[in-house]
Amino acid sequence: MKSIILAGGSGSRLYPLTQVASKQLQAVYDKPMIYYPLTVLMAAGVREVCLISTAGDLPRFQQLLGDGSLWGINIDYREQSRPEGIAQSFLIADDFIADDSVVLMLGDNIFSGGDNFPSAMQQFEQGAAIFAYHVKDPERYGVVEFDRFGNALSLEEKPERPRSSYAVPGIYIYDNQVVNIARNLTPSRRGELEITDVNLEYLRRGNLKVHRLSRGFVWLDAGTSSALQEASSYIETIERRQGVKIGCPEEAALVRGFITLDQFETLVAKMPDCEYRSYLTIVAAETRGLEGLRA
Ligand code: G1P
Repeated sequence: MKSIILAGGSGSRLYPLTQVASKQLQAVYDKPMIYYPLTVLMAAGVREVCLISTAGDLPRFQQLLGDGSLWGINIDYREQSRPEGIAQSFLIADDFIADDSVVLMLGDNIFSGGDNFPSAMQQFEQGAAIFAYHVKDPERYGVVEFDRFGNALSLEEKPERPRSSYAVPGIYIYDNQVVNIARNLTPSRRGELEITDVNLEYLRRGNLKVHRLSRGFVWLDAGTSSALQEASSYIETIERRQGVKIGCPEEAALVRGFITLDQFETLVAKMPDCEYRSYLTIVAAETRGLEGLRA
């Protein structure tokens, strides 16, 4: 399965922070925001990533992430010249997707906990799979309504009067039909190719699976200054309590076997003396200990 991370947009709600770097490069506690969605994909076993951003920000992402080879993945870069909608990603990355299925992630969505995504991706065969998450303010999102058997009934983008409290988070799994579906979309009133219209088409075809995310699962939005601050506080709280980090691509690469422990230790050795390095040093020692136990 291929993957796309969409990290475009002007980030106007985070002005003036976004004058020098896009929203998805801002810090969420101790890491750039983009590390979180990237790590979710890697933890689910994805190794082919296409990162879409603006011409101005692409070099900054390339500086941060490179071609992915140090983490045992491949990162391609594509430009979205104008913010013409999430579903435009499939047109920008059509040659990258080729004849594969694809998972699309929004670069400003932060998730934590559970194995919902890896298991949905493993189960996935055809059609589309999206997720539903109970929120207090569904009118800010795509909203899905269910019948009493848990089947999706309707989908609406930012409805004034939401029919349910279930928002659709920014991670979507599609079969190869998605490219054609995106080609046939017409822009919405806000001039964008809407991801909700893609999902509606799959719903019409009877080919949309909606996984409800459990209560303990965490989905955070980092679109405004206070949401960004809250996301940082949440990550800090969990990391300090547990002594494990959320959104650490090096660790995901090691755990998934994308890189060996030796390669991991070489990466860590090149890092400056900092808390991030100390953490990864502990991860390396714990992994060596486990290998010792297995030997
Ligand atoms: C977009 C989608 C919306 C989805 C949300 C998740 O909204 O259009 O359906 O619920 O991402 O973050 P936007 O970020 O463009 O407001």
